Amino acid sequence: MANLRFLTAGESHGQCLTAIVEGIPAGVRIDLDEMNADMARRQQGYGRGGRMKIETDQVNVLSGVRFGETLGSPITLQVQNHDWKNWKQRMAVFGEPAGEAVTAARPGHADLIGIQKYDRKDIRDILERASARETATRVAVGALAKQFLKACDISVTSKVINIGGVFAATAPDGQQPSPVPKSAMNCGDPAAEERMEQKITAAKAVGDTLGGIFEVTVHGAPIGLGSHIQWDQRLDGRLAGAIMSIQAIKGIEIGAGFSYAAMPGSQAHDELFYDEQQNIYRKTNHAGGLEGGMTNGEDILIRAVMKPIPTLMKPLHSVDIASKTPVLASKERSDVCAVPAASVVGEAMAAFVVAQAVIEKFGGDALSDVLQFIADYKSRIQGE
Ligand SMILES: Cc1cc2nc3c(=O)[nH]c(=O)nc-3n(C[C@H](O)[C@H](O)[C@H](O)COP(=O)(O)O)c2cc1C
Repeated sequence: MANLRFLTAGESHGQCLTAIVEGIPAGVRIDLDEMNADMARRQQGYGRGGRMKIETDQVNVLSGVRFGETLGSPITLQVQNHDWKNWKQRMAVFGEPAGEAVTAARPGHADLIGIQKYDRKDIRDILERASARETATRVAVGALAKQFLKACDISVTSKVINIGGVFAATAPDGQQPSPVPKSAMNCGDPAAEERMEQKITAAKAVGDTLGGIFEVTVHGAPIGLGSHIQWDQRLDGRLAGAIMSIQAIKGIEIGAGFSYAAMPGSQAHDELFYDEQQNIYRKTNHAGGLEGGMTNGEDILIRAVMKPIPTLMKPLHSVDIASKTPVLASKERSDVCAVPAASVVGEAMAAFVVAQAVIEKFGGDALSDVLQFIADYKSRIQGE
């Protein structure tokens, strides 16, 4: 059983979303404002739908924290759905069905397969949970993980590098990543952000949607998180799996990723050098901080591609699941582009997996033990 785990619950228009996180050591100071700042970042970005104007996501911490410090017991996080007041009848837990059933399946969404698999008649039974509203809880969990990582001197950041084919300027390979963006587009290249926004405006005008690429960077991870000894312990696989589990993410690369295909080995691998100050070091980071499924002390660099949002205001051709007649897909209130939001979710999932790996390697019930174990381990490696 994983020593750090979480489950989420809740429907998009239900009363609230909940997560239970178990395994954060005791003694981590929790800053609720910092958690809520991440919640707000997930709601930002040009191209978001009307729902984001209704919700102002705030985390309620219901258990596991006392006087601002974790107790080592399960932490319950709750996020209210303010839109619930408009959905009380249609999303009632008990009572008679209210409102019209949704029967026009959206291509690219969970609608059709969910109906078939779970033997339901109303697509709402599926879409309410398939909706990426669920990612609000993941960001809350990630914010918690980030506070634990911060105590261990590890930071996790993200930035958007492509929307609808418009690329941001990025740091040349192997150099320090550019500063963490502060803008709502989470991109950090104002000229590219402007072009991205224009592209989103144009897509919206014709009822279309866009995807893109974001990058997550983990800085300060100690050498040796994850392991080469078993497939399910490789940290590259675990990070890729966690980020791929985000709704609409369809591709992942670590470090040079897909561009390895065009490189000869002589240019692909990060050569090793030694001097007394830096010990053994590298001048490049094509490996994206991971070799043999283990962190190598460099920044972990992960890129993920998000497909265009499947709900289109100019709906795609579909089939009515009740009558089997041709229809246009249903139009649930929707984002035109949510890559900036997805980048914040990616950050959260990466933070969770790295926190899990830290606890696995330096496990302790108390933060003080974890920090001591990390310090002892680092001094052993530096002394070699
Ligand atoms: C932050 C975020 C926001 C999203 N917003 C929407 C949305 O408004 N409308 C929509 O149809 N899909 C949205 N999606 C994508 C769907 O949730 C996703 O495509 C769907 O659940 C099917 O899963 P799949 O694309 O992984 O196959 C969003 C995804 C993320 C990560």
